[in-house]
Amino acid sequence: MTLKILVLPGDGIGKEVTAEAVKVLKTVVEGVVDLDLRHGMIGGDAIDTVGDALPQETVDLARECDAILLGGTGVKEDEKRAPSEGAGHGLLRLRKALELYANLRPVKLYPELVGASTLRPEVVEGVDMVILRELNGDLYFGEPRGIFKDETGARYGINTMRYSESEIERIARAGFELARKRRGKLCSVDKANVLETMTLWRQVVIEVSADYPDVELSHLFIDAASMALIRDPKQFDVIVTGNVFGDIISDAAAMLAGSIGMLPSASLADGDFGLYEPVHGTAPDIAGQNLANPLAAILSVAMMLRHSFKMEAQASRIEAAIQSVLAQGYRTADMQQDGCTVLGTREMGDVVVDAVRHLSQDIKTPAETV
Ligand code: IPM
Ligand code: MG
Repeated sequence: MTLKILVLPGDGIGKEVTAEAVKVLKTVVEGVVDLDLRHGMIGGDAIDTVGDALPQETVDLARECDAILLGGTGVKEDEKRAPSEGAGHGLLRLRKALELYANLRPVKLYPELVGASTLRPEVVEGVDMVILRELNGDLYFGEPRGIFKDETGARYGINTMRYSESEIERIARAGFELARKRRGKLCSVDKANVLETMTLWRQVVIEVSADYPDVELSHLFIDAASMALIRDPKQFDVIVTGNVFGDIISDAAAMLAGSIGMLPSASLADGDFGLYEPVHGTAPDIAGQNLANPLAAILSVAMMLRHSFKMEAQASRIEAAIQSVLAQGYRTADMQQDGCTVLGTREMGDVVVDAVRHLSQDIKTPAETV
């Protein structure tokens, strides 16, 4: 078997963390499957080279592959560009073009990182949830949009919060299915008390729930959900929400896991195809300094192996390797703790590679002696 993967390092620290993720990927599949890694351009480099944040060639390459591993998109110059011309927009267009509508953002606190969170240990210990963010609709894509001038010449801006019934239904189903595989609890987050789009959201989620009597459904408004997430995060199993609210609360939830540098994500279409990327951005301020935490990118590889390639053993091996390097006291600068050894991006990649190798040996030995 050959895994056909499109690697899109993108901008800033995206390049650095992707290099480490690829190193770990190569190690964990060694002797099991072959890799056919294709490389493409997206974001700032693509703008500089071909004048487009998402070249058609990249979309074509993606369609030939079974999965995408992405670093991040966004550059400093974006501040001076219209949102639709920025590097980050390349990623938004790719999500839309490939109909990657279900964005899974697991938030799990490794016990070793309890002290790295800004919240009290008893609040965060044992946090284990998934934020399921809709990725193809909402204010991100609704029309009309733009900056216009009224009759007096004063400017005004418009974005449109738009969701169709079918878009809500498919993400709701994904949420119920996911909750069913976990602890059976789904919390739908909306703003149904103010926004019609969100009133429809709630109605459709309730309609879909009829097919999932075994899943316990609850609803929260986004403001109350933000508070609950910080006050008592352990109550959550799966949270399903729209594109904008999901963008915001997943960054907030990152602090529950100690650092945003620990959060992987999967953006899935129907079927097995997916795009896997760390939740963090491109951090231009620390780019190129070997400071970034590569663990979110490495954990994204685990999500890829599990979901797109059904390679559960290899996925768990990566997660166990990360657990083991954290237990050995290795950290990157974003999650410094007393008594720990702070490593650079490449060195963190190296210790994970070593841990994967050790775990592979441990697993092989009993089988070989039988
Ligand atoms: C994310 C990011 C993106 C988003 C940006 C880079 C366009 O913040 O994946 O959460 O807003 O979706
Ligand atoms: Mg975001």
